[in-house]
Amino acid sequence: MKIACLIASALAKRRFDDDKVVSFDNLTVSQIHTLKTFDRVMNFDFWSPESVDELVPGGTADIHVSQFYANELEDAFRAADFEYKLTIQNLQEQIDIETMFSRNHGKAHDLLQYNDYDTIKSYSQSFAGYFTYGSSFEGRDLFGVKIGTGSKVISVDCGIHAREWISPAYCQWFMNEAKNGQFNQYLSDVTFIVMPSINPDGYAYTWNSDRMWRKNRATGYGGCVGVDLNRNYDANHAGEGASPNPCSNTYHGPSAFSEPEAKAQQIAMQPYIDDGNLKAFLTVHSYGQYLIFPYSYDYASQAPNKAELQEVGDEMAAAIREVHQQSYLPGQDILYVCSGVSSDWAYDAMLSAGNSGPLAYTFELRDEGRFGFLLPAEQIQLTCEEIDAAMHKIINYVIENK
Ligand code: ARG
Ligand code: ZN
Repeated sequence: MKIACLIASALAKRRFDDDKVVSFDNLTVSQIHTLKTFDRVMNFDFWSPESVDELVPGGTADIHVSQFYANELEDAFRAADFEYKLTIQNLQEQIDIETMFSRNHGKAHDLLQYNDYDTIKSYSQSFAGYFTYGSSFEGRDLFGVKIGTGSKVISVDCGIHAREWISPAYCQWFMNEAKNGQFNQYLSDVTFIVMPSINPDGYAYTWNSDRMWRKNRATGYGGCVGVDLNRNYDANHAGEGASPNPCSNTYHGPSAFSEPEAKAQQIAMQPYIDDGNLKAFLTVHSYGQYLIFPYSYDYASQAPNKAELQEVGDEMAAAIREVHQQSYLPGQDILYVCSGVSSDWAYDAMLSAGNSGPLAYTFELRDEGRFGFLLPAEQIQLTCEEIDAAMHKIINYVIENK
């Protein structure tokens, strides 16, 4: 009986009944201390920032708390006059709503819903420039599409973090606009390399087992599953803002590029880096509405073309705002230090190859915390429309200046 239950629960989807997401503003040093103490017992799932170590004084936090600890935690907060907001009352309810209204369940590909890995892959295969560049830990194809004939290359990747579903949704939207729509006009000047789902095992796992999964699904690192792919790149790997603990959501892995998904992206992109054609490296995440440029691994190190990165970031943010009046904050040091991120790797690799003004950004899409990773599909189009405005800016900038 016991074994049957164990097997049943291993196959079942993880549930989040009555789990909460609590949010904080303007954290003080003592509040951060309190959260760290609770985290040791309650093992929070950090939504923003990504781990307890990334909490900063004056900053914000969104934390997913298991229902088992919710009451205890709220009592403690009240006793300490620790202000918080209950952003999500019942996480499972939000996931159920998403499952009913936002997921495309095995129907034809739909740009206005969240598509699963197989659907994203078959959609991508309908593009002439479809290519594979390796296999994931569990053996899924890593793939992309190459669109355009121009000599200047812009790469856009999505889905490095499994639960950030709006990210692959944007890549699919972008691919369509490049082939059939508003970005078509650039194809003689630019070649787009779009990788819409660079962590396929993690993504499939969020569909089938645990909606809140972030990492890849690698095993063999001691007890826990998964490496945070966006801590696994060769940019001060294993430095500040990445965890040596395989059970952490920000585990950096045993060595830089230990993970097949990260290594394959490096190998796929290296030729475009070495020949100097890669001009911009854009990696799409959610959420928080930021446009982050290097360096993330050390806020004291300044990118040689920091002023340019800031200027293009400002222009992208202004263009985004005009579309649906959303604020996206551009900058280097707007979140927290973290090491091993892909945009820092790509930036440094382009620099070493002789490109004196590489462009590299981490886009954090919608929203600002209301739904977090569970952004309703009705916001896919709105989000994509505003990010398109940023894309026009950076594409034009590349064509005119790079
Ligand atoms: N949310 C992203 C991650 O955790 C951000 C990385 C970019 N840089 C930074 N300073 N946070 O991977
Ligand atoms: Zn992310």
